[in-house]
Amino acid sequence: MKALLSTNIPGAKKSFSGKVRDIYEADKEHLLIVSTDRVSAFDHVFPNGIHGKGIILNQISNLWFSNMTFVKNHIVETDFANFPKPFSGFPELLKDRSVIVKKAKRIDFECVARGYLIGSGWKDYMINGEICGHKLPQGLKMAEELPSPIFTPATKATDGHDINVSIEVMREKLGFETAENLARLTLKIYEHGKNKMQNAGILLADTKLEFGIINNEIILVDEAMTPDSSRFWDKASYRVGESPVSYDKQFIRDYLETTDWDKNSPPPPLPDEIIEKTQQKYQEILRKIKSVI
Ligand SMILES: Nc1ncnc2c1ncn2[C@@H]1O[C@H](COP(=O)(O)OP(=O)(O)O)[C@@H](O)[C@H]1O
Ligand SMILES: [Mg+2]
Repeated sequence: MKALLSTNIPGAKKSFSGKVRDIYEADKEHLLIVSTDRVSAFDHVFPNGIHGKGIILNQISNLWFSNMTFVKNHIVETDFANFPKPFSGFPELLKDRSVIVKKAKRIDFECVARGYLIGSGWKDYMINGEICGHKLPQGLKMAEELPSPIFTPATKATDGHDINVSIEVMREKLGFETAENLARLTLKIYEHGKNKMQNAGILLADTKLEFGIINNEIILVDEAMTPDSSRFWDKASYRVGESPVSYDKQFIRDYLETTDWDKNSPPPPLPDEIIEKTQQKYQEILRKIKSVI
């Protein structure tokens, strides 16, 4: 199978291309979102993709969306058979990797929940013992479980990189109530995912969510607890202080750290074996998620 790197649907207006998804206008209130096979890491999109990745991500998000009845989400239609024109004319491009969603006003914060000390959280902790204003106990090790999960929002800098901020920054921008609701929902979704994944022998270390507003109501948009947006660790081999075996994008980040790519210039293509291995990891986490929800 060849990786789908870009889409063009004659007769439809493409409103936006994210790093992974292409967004089309469906009508005034709805969008069509296609998950392509593009791969991004360190805020760069790679010249080659991972065949079938978009289909896996779309399935995973849809499973969580339909499973989490405690939070409203943007989904309107997941079945290609019910897609309207002109989208219905492009099954080879859209089937199994697209959804029709409610168009939301995007909230410009990444809503992150962390249950373990890793990634940018671990980096922040090593500098001053805290993450996004949460003071943490001294002496925690890499990959260690936190006393309780924390909400660690991030904003986008002009160069596209995420910057961790405290909830106070969010309150100032969005108002107290909205910020509190986002924190509450993010932690609730994380706890839900973490509890479910335990049954599949997986530790959900963290997850990054996006929310939007429709009619003054907060709804979950974009994707939900996928291996692009979350860390899934193998529980059996997990050891505090060691880099965990994971079923997510960390495998690509780890590979990139071994190359001399500077993370600023256009990235080099990913080698075939990295593509294949990542594909297998994504397929495996889909299987595990399916087995528990
Ligand atoms: N229901 C929605 N309404 C409006 N925008 C949405 C909705 N769902 C997702 N989006 C936006 O569509 C884009 C999805 O593309 P993606 O490749 O995931 O972007 P990114 O590069 O920001 O990760 C994001 O900008 C996201 O905010
Ligand atoms: Mg996104």
